[in-house]
Amino acid sequence: MNHAPSLSRVPDGVVTLDDHETHARTRLDPRAWAYFSGGAADELTLRANRQAWSELALLPRVLQPLAGGHTRVQLLGRTLAHPILLAPVAYQQLAHPEGELATAHAAAALGAGLVLSTQASVPLQAVAQAVLGEPGRGPLWFQLYLQPDRGHTRELVQRAEAAGYEALVLTVDAPTHGARDRERRAGFHLPPGVRAVNLDGPSSPPPAPLTAGQSALFDGLLHHAPTWDDLAWLQAQTRLPIVLKGVLHPEDARQAARMKVAALVVSNHGGRTLDTTPTTAAVLPRINDALGGALPLLVDGGIRRGTDVLKAVALGASAVLVGRPYVYGLANAGAMGVAHVLRLLRDELEIAMALGGCRTLAQATPALLAQDLNWRLPR
Ligand code: FNR
Ligand code: LAC
Repeated sequence: MNHAPSLSRVPDGVVTLDDHETHARTRLDPRAWAYFSGGAADELTLRANRQAWSELALLPRVLQPLAGGHTRVQLLGRTLAHPILLAPVAYQQLAHPEGELATAHAAAALGAGLVLSTQASVPLQAVAQAVLGEPGRGPLWFQLYLQPDRGHTRELVQRAEAAGYEALVLTVDAPTHGARDRERRAGFHLPPGVRAVNLDGPSSPPPAPLTAGQSALFDGLLHHAPTWDDLAWLQAQTRLPIVLKGVLHPEDARQAARMKVAALVVSNHGGRTLDTTPTTAAVLPRINDALGGALPLLVDGGIRRGTDVLKAVALGASAVLVGRPYVYGLANAGAMGVAHVLRLLRDELEIAMALGGCRTLAQATPALLAQDLNWRLPR
């Protein structure tokens, strides 16, 4: 199966990531909109993520030499053209019939790293085929949810390795779904034809029936919830670097460093799992302090502007991931929409660097952020 990306146009007047969001809302089925845009419970973390990047004030330097500047960064032994990756987002065929394939074409064309979700709606091999031969593509990583059955997980990892994925992104902040009130209000369910195709196969045996007083969560679903031992097990199963996604506590970051994972993604799952966690903008510098450079850090959650990317780098991130905005681009104009979102963010990053006085991202340090001059936006 070889899908050429369709060439829809980005609508006139869409010039920011927020414009993509506003437009996507008019295009998506209301239930899909609730799924993509929603967060957990009162959506406090969802909103705060965004606001926290905005509230950091940039204190620019002037008259700095800027000629020959660039956005390149080093990550897991590779040079990336820029530090923007596409976060794993499940079920992208809800946004566009080409789903993750269109996303992959756009990522490759714009040199962006791509993290494919375990719950992708197209086969992981097809996505790899779309990307691997592209010169100038970014890294291709597979996001892993450990399956209740280790044999099933091993087989999934082997398929990802064989297809050419270059790292595993083990997501550890979602042993169960958050309380997704918005989704439930909207009556979200997967429509026929959209499913997690890479998890097809023998399903796990049904859990033993609960006895009186047992919890459906703790004695049911979470019976197989992953632990640090499962990380060690996974490390023994694969030659791929493992990136741990969903770390917020400095002690967890230290534990991950002791276990020699390849990198961390500081993430609260875009506010979709535990509501009222701190924002990633607030946590990133603490984790950076706790690790003292022991591991490369990535961060996601609420990154919507080139200035947000620059701030994340100034606070210690090697790279950032964006989630919802590119899915809105996908809904608006397929591969062209995703490419447009990436283009906008990268252009904005270059502008922010130039106006901030940074020729390279190595020059973005905490000194660029005037902590005592931060403002509070009206909520
Ligand atoms: C996600 N995210 C996610 N993460 C993951 O590890 N595996 C997954 O399958 C998914 N699926 C998913 C679906 C949808 C609809 C969203 C919005 C998010 C979380 C994602 O990778 C990322 O952490 C956040 O989306 C980042 O926040 P922003 O950029 O959306 O604010
Ligand atoms: C989500 C799961 C799939 O956030 O990670 O919807």
